[in-house]
Amino acid sequence: MGKIINKKNMFFPDKEFKKKALINNNSIYKKALKNPTKFWADIAKELYWFNKPKKTFVHKPPYFQWFTGGKINISYNCLDKNLEERRNKVALIWEPEPLEERERILTYYELSRQVNKFSNALKQLGVKKGDVVGIYMPMLPETIIAMLACARIGAVHAVVFSAFSSNALKIRLEGTKAKILITADGYYRRGKIVNLKDSADEGIKGTNVKKVVVVKRAGNQIKFKKGRDYYWNELTENQKDHCEAAKMNSEDTLFILFTSGSTGKPKGIIHTCGGYTVQAYATTKLIFDLKDDDIFWSTADLGWITGHTYSCYGPLLNGTTFVLYEGVPGYPEPNQWCKTIEKYGVTTFYTAPTAIRMFEKEMRTIKEKMSTLQLISSVGEPIDEEAWKWYFNQVGKGNCPILDTWWQTETGGILITSLPGIGPFKPTFTGIPFPGIRTDILNKEGKPVKANEKGNLVILPPFSPGMLRGVYKNPKKYQETYFGTYGNKIYFTSDVAYKDKNGLIRIVGRADDVIKVAGHRLSTGELENIIDSYKKVSECAVIGIPHEIKGEVPLAFVVLKSGKPGDEMKKEIVQQVEKGIGKIARPAEIYFVKELPKTRSGKIMRRILRKLFSKEDMGDLSTLANPESVEELKKIIQ
Ligand code: WT7
Repeated sequence: MGKIINKKNMFFPDKEFKKKALINNNSIYKKALKNPTKFWADIAKELYWFNKPKKTFVHKPPYFQWFTGGKINISYNCLDKNLEERRNKVALIWEPEPLEERERILTYYELSRQVNKFSNALKQLGVKKGDVVGIYMPMLPETIIAMLACARIGAVHAVVFSAFSSNALKIRLEGTKAKILITADGYYRRGKIVNLKDSADEGIKGTNVKKVVVVKRAGNQIKFKKGRDYYWNELTENQKDHCEAAKMNSEDTLFILFTSGSTGKPKGIIHTCGGYTVQAYATTKLIFDLKDDDIFWSTADLGWITGHTYSCYGPLLNGTTFVLYEGVPGYPEPNQWCKTIEKYGVTTFYTAPTAIRMFEKEMRTIKEKMSTLQLISSVGEPIDEEAWKWYFNQVGKGNCPILDTWWQTETGGILITSLPGIGPFKPTFTGIPFPGIRTDILNKEGKPVKANEKGNLVILPPFSPGMLRGVYKNPKKYQETYFGTYGNKIYFTSDVAYKDKNGLIRIVGRADDVIKVAGHRLSTGELENIIDSYKKVSECAVIGIPHEIKGEVPLAFVVLKSGKPGDEMKKEIVQQVEKGIGKIARPAEIYFVKELPKTRSGKIMRRILRKLFSKEDMGDLSTLANPESVEELKKIIQ
């Protein structure tokens, strides 16, 4: 194995690592930028197309298309294409949370068989090309099978994170008008069984869902409604093990995934069949430097975009063996994830800063050698220098590149990172744009900023094949959010960033009201809506403040309409949040105030609340209609 060389706090792969890497010559950047569409068109040729694309990129700002005229199926590329060469290779290793249970190992052949059977089951339930199917499932092989089966028959999947509440599920189902939901009886989380079916039953009330497929996982008691509910195993048992893959147009919708934005309602991000497949394939291969004998483990939940692209589609498109763990990586023991890495000989590990900080706090030094690891990586939020160094020394043992990968639900795949065979890996810097990706950092006037100056991170045409094609049933939101700041040819990421003198990009944080809590993307507006809807609340403001492990946590400032401020009321409000979104959105603290700081026009000044916590100068308070509210806040916070 190679070593990583440290040159003044910039890290590089050594000769040996470079020699083995798929990309080790930085001429790829120059070549790709000269003609980005050709770069992507060449990669697209490595996939199987029923009909070859006629045009690579079509731009009708703010809309764009990739590989038009092409016909493709991602499930065919994940399965059938691999059956020729690696039929008996292990595709998926599923590790259950209860340690006494056996793992499940599915070869490409077995996975393919199960996907084909379930595709036929979906057809039997009346699911047709273009229909939306809701998937509300934990980390199970069946979740992957369900996603691939939808893709196979051309149905659009809309996965909803299993830790979201029934209310959050309902909002997402209503948004898509899904007629069918796939779920499970329950699953294991930190030693307990979570009854998922109860939440599913609650969530589908009043929606269009007419049929529910239930995977038996935890064996817990559920309410089974005959005629509406079907057990997965009974439904698939007698299905044929072949189902023709639908020939999808490149620009047909592959899936919708909801994410939070500035406003109260989540947005349904649309990803398409051709472009997403090409980007998922290429970024997984070239960034994670995957070779045939690698074992890849992304800890991301399938309910988020990282789970879609790197815990499911990306590894399968590359014919890789990958691990899926049912529980949280630090359970039952803080070093459970180290044991899993050793048990399966994981070579390539992908996780989030919040997990890294948690591991660091709980373990400090790691005794496991984890000698198979060759590459470690991070995603979702900025990784601070201390966590970076700990990850590098304790997990990578100084031998593995750390890839800090930047992207978003909207971009479909990684857009900024260093490549492992080239480097550099610089703590707290995410790296440079992936070959063929054009980014810039602009000031308010739209002018590029100088080195070390902060500005708005934007992506320039031709963007990337895997980027969103729209916001479900909301074209206005698409235009305004992404193409409303610098005109309809420049995609605004909503992130603030700067470049060092070598062009390495450092992400500072969001420019909008999105916060990252333990890597989960939440909107403070959405939280405010939920708290405001509680009958005893008059109004509220939610902000994110830095947190040692979780990155950020929400705080709520609440003005009551009735009832008494105190612990009891805090509990009621927390319950409201758990019901509305889920436990992940629980405010770390709730402050009861008489008034919120407001402008004369009545806008809540969240900036002032944030500054009170960061102990920064509050700046100009003359626009405030009620400066006395700040005095009250100062007293409460101290
Ligand atoms: C936001 C997108 C796409 C993967 C999971 C997150 C932040 C993402 C990094 C990174 C600093 C990062 C950005 C971005 N973010 N990766 N490497 N360094 N910040 O997807 O939930 O859509 O969130 O996460 O603020 O805009 P997401």
